[in-house]
Amino acid sequence: MTERLHKILILDFGSQTTQLIARRIRDLKVYCEIHPCELPPDEIKRIHPDGIVLSGGPMSVYEQNAPACSSEIFSMKIPILGICYGLQLMTKLMGGKVSPASSREYGRTEISVIDTADLLAGISTKEPMVVWMSHGDLVEAIPDGFDVLARSESSMYAVVANRSKDLYGVQFHPEVIHTIQGAKILANFVFNICHCRPNWTMESFVQRSIEAMRQQVGSSQVVCALSGGVDSSVVAALLYRAIGKQLHCIFVDNGLLRKSEAAYVRDIFARHFKMDLTIVDASERFLSRLAEVTDPEVKRKRIGELFIQVFEEQAKKIHRVDFLAQGTLYPDVIESMPTRGPSATIKSHHNVGGLPERMNLKLIEPLRELFKDEVRQLGETLGLPASVVQRHPFPGPGLAVRVIGKITQDRLKVLQEADFILQEELNAHDLVRKTWQTFAILLPVRSVGVMGDERTYEETLVIRSVTSQDGMTADWARLPYDFLARVSNRIINQVKGVNRVLYDVSSKPPATIEWE
Ligand code: XMP
Repeated sequence: MTERLHKILILDFGSQTTQLIARRIRDLKVYCEIHPCELPPDEIKRIHPDGIVLSGGPMSVYEQNAPACSSEIFSMKIPILGICYGLQLMTKLMGGKVSPASSREYGRTEISVIDTADLLAGISTKEPMVVWMSHGDLVEAIPDGFDVLARSESSMYAVVANRSKDLYGVQFHPEVIHTIQGAKILANFVFNICHCRPNWTMESFVQRSIEAMRQQVGSSQVVCALSGGVDSSVVAALLYRAIGKQLHCIFVDNGLLRKSEAAYVRDIFARHFKMDLTIVDASERFLSRLAEVTDPEVKRKRIGELFIQVFEEQAKKIHRVDFLAQGTLYPDVIESMPTRGPSATIKSHHNVGGLPERMNLKLIEPLRELFKDEVRQLGETLGLPASVVQRHPFPGPGLAVRVIGKITQDRLKVLQEADFILQEELNAHDLVRKTWQTFAILLPVRSVGVMGDERTYEETLVIRSVTSQDGMTADWARLPYDFLARVSNRIINQVKGVNRVLYDVSSKPPATIEWE
């Protein structure tokens, strides 16, 4: 019998830092889930959280269509922590007063702590506490039954509590690192006030997830598109642990992969996991479908369609398949929550979209609750080698979106060789973990060079390296000059077809990580 999973529910009012609240609470080994703020009380009862956090949000509580939660939650006898907008909304719904601040508080602010009984336990009352504020409105009068635990120069009510109802509110953001004692405040809420146990560990996740998947799958067969990337590798390893031979992995070699990738995947999975793995070499089909294509979206669409076709052909050879396993992560789940507005399609991302309906398959998404770094931890717990678990993301359409212009065997080979050198040097200089992604792009731009006494006229290679939390935004990595010099030198000397190497210094936005 596994212990009940203690959990915190986060109601999202649209703040940029809502995911950070979840990250911080999970760092405390307490499970938490983010839901849209208007989650009905019945749903909340079903989730049965040990505590609720109301996130911040960009609006004013008095604006038309300002997001709100049901006021019923304040009498459910579940401890609640309102953060910024969350506090202002709680104040308004419980009969207090919120008004526009005469001077807005943004950024670093000092507050004086008065009461350290619970939420602020362990925090000094002698020195000011540094917090990070970001608000235009201010609580002007607190509802009946509330006490003040801390105040700032411009905000009488920086931290408040109604202890008889277990309601707490902070005007600042404890989830951001600039709030020096922020993690302590969240820990106080989660452990002292909600009485959670820190039982969200990868081992407990593996145990619960295996039980759930066995129940869901029964005696059916499951197919999984293994790409060799972190997410699909972890899905496969986890499912293999749960259902062994009922899992069938299909790896499509589309000819657009890193150098020696198919052999690498075969080695890791066939040797270490003994799972049913089919490797399909469809590279010629992909290359002929891409001949003469230069438009990025056409490349992506053709690769996506052909991938589905090849995968379906293979999957049909397996009998009685009912499920398709996918490596959907928690940020994807949050992004597709109904409260988030539709965002414009910048690029057609290609995974296995469309397959479940076409083949009438049900989905298994065992990583739906996890953030990327948790997936990596999980991979390690399941015994995947560090070389897989720490891998950088690789796009579904592969090198097709990194060979700019026409895709030919020769140009692909040039990019593969150059990228191989780059990856080798990254490993040698221990830079893999320090960057989110580092890769090469081949441009159809020729320039003149001189090698020995010979004139050369070859194409241009770009190195792209970025730091990022989740791939949604990114900054170009400040790689050491010596490293860049070495990589450039090796590539120009060892890869025929390239005589110039550039470094991409664009952040996202306005650029994207991939070039196409
Ligand atoms: P962009 O280029 O949109 O990329 O800034 C953001 C992240 O997504 C990866 N990427 C993809 N991943 N299928 C994927 O699974 C795709 O079609 C795809 N396209 C881009 C990209 O490498 C980066 O990590």
